[in-house]
Amino acid sequence: MKIKKLIYSLSILLFQISVSYAIDIKTDTIKPGELWPDDQGNHVQAHGGGIIKIKDTFYWYGEQRSKEIDTNFRYVSCYSSKDLMNWKFRGNALVLSKPDTVLGKWVLERPKVFFNSKTGKYVMYMHIDGSVRGTDRKTPGWGYAYARVGVAVSDKPTGPFKYIRSFRPLGLESRDIGQFVDDDGTPYLIFESRPSKGFYIAGLSDDYLDADREIAFIQAPLEGGAIVHYKGLYYVVGSALTGWRPNPNKYATATRLSGPWSEFQDIAPPATNTYGAQSTMLLKVVGQQETTVLFMGDQWRPQQQWDSRYLWMPLKIDDGKLWLPSPRPFTIDVKSGKASAVD
Ligand code: DGJ
Repeated sequence: MKIKKLIYSLSILLFQISVSYAIDIKTDTIKPGELWPDDQGNHVQAHGGGIIKIKDTFYWYGEQRSKEIDTNFRYVSCYSSKDLMNWKFRGNALVLSKPDTVLGKWVLERPKVFFNSKTGKYVMYMHIDGSVRGTDRKTPGWGYAYARVGVAVSDKPTGPFKYIRSFRPLGLESRDIGQFVDDDGTPYLIFESRPSKGFYIAGLSDDYLDADREIAFIQAPLEGGAIVHYKGLYYVVGSALTGWRPNPNKYATATRLSGPWSEFQDIAPPATNTYGAQSTMLLKVVGQQETTVLFMGDQWRPQQQWDSRYLWMPLKIDDGKLWLPSPRPFTIDVKSGKASAVD
């Protein structure tokens, strides 16, 4: 009887230790393609996401695709971190119900948040899509016929965001969106459009609520657009149009955002299909000693989206060349800006 009691107490103790370990866990490594536990030990749900830095805090927004969500709504999650490796779940910054004009199936994808220092507001853009009147299952791309951006606003980075409206930027179909903020703070929306096929780069209005100025149209059948400005050159990365399936992502360069843009080239050996990932953002980490550009990509698992993974890797980038090295665990020091492989 005593032994039974002892075993029971020991197992309770072990359980408590493992729970507190799971919750307090800290990491100094980013492991591309692996489960990424947040501060609660749950896999980060911020797919197709984007990051902004406010003072010394990074905020990561993305598609909340946890198994537990109520599928009548679409959610944008928010996580915060000071080191890009340990992420605290700050809740769902936006909970959206179906826009009236969409029929049946609908999606909220690739949310991105801009901070407008003039108004003090956080402005979220997202891809809103679904089927509309006049389309049915036989129409190619029927579930993506709405082709709009949605805009929502908040006073705080963590939300709650208030949904304002949806629209077609520059009056054009808009599917995957990306965000780019130049070194002088000017914000841009990148959106993939059809039938012209390519990326539009659009400037935002003063209140950031509209994307009303065409800066460039980069013609190429690509989506998942992301831009970084590095040592005087603009680099744009995108993926081919293959749905959830990975493909060889490509990049082009320009000395001005308005172009001309170079021909597109592979960012990784084409046979690897970008190591199973699709671009969502290029994050420039400017440290006191170095500037590292991180490729942020999604490894989608369309049948179990809650288990989709993230492929983040420091890029080799310079002199008009950009290359995604083969994924391996790494650490990053946001103060110095240095990223290094972890064996
Ligand atoms: C590819 C896009 O990049 C994703 O965001 C999503 O829209 C899938 N297509 C849907 O097939």
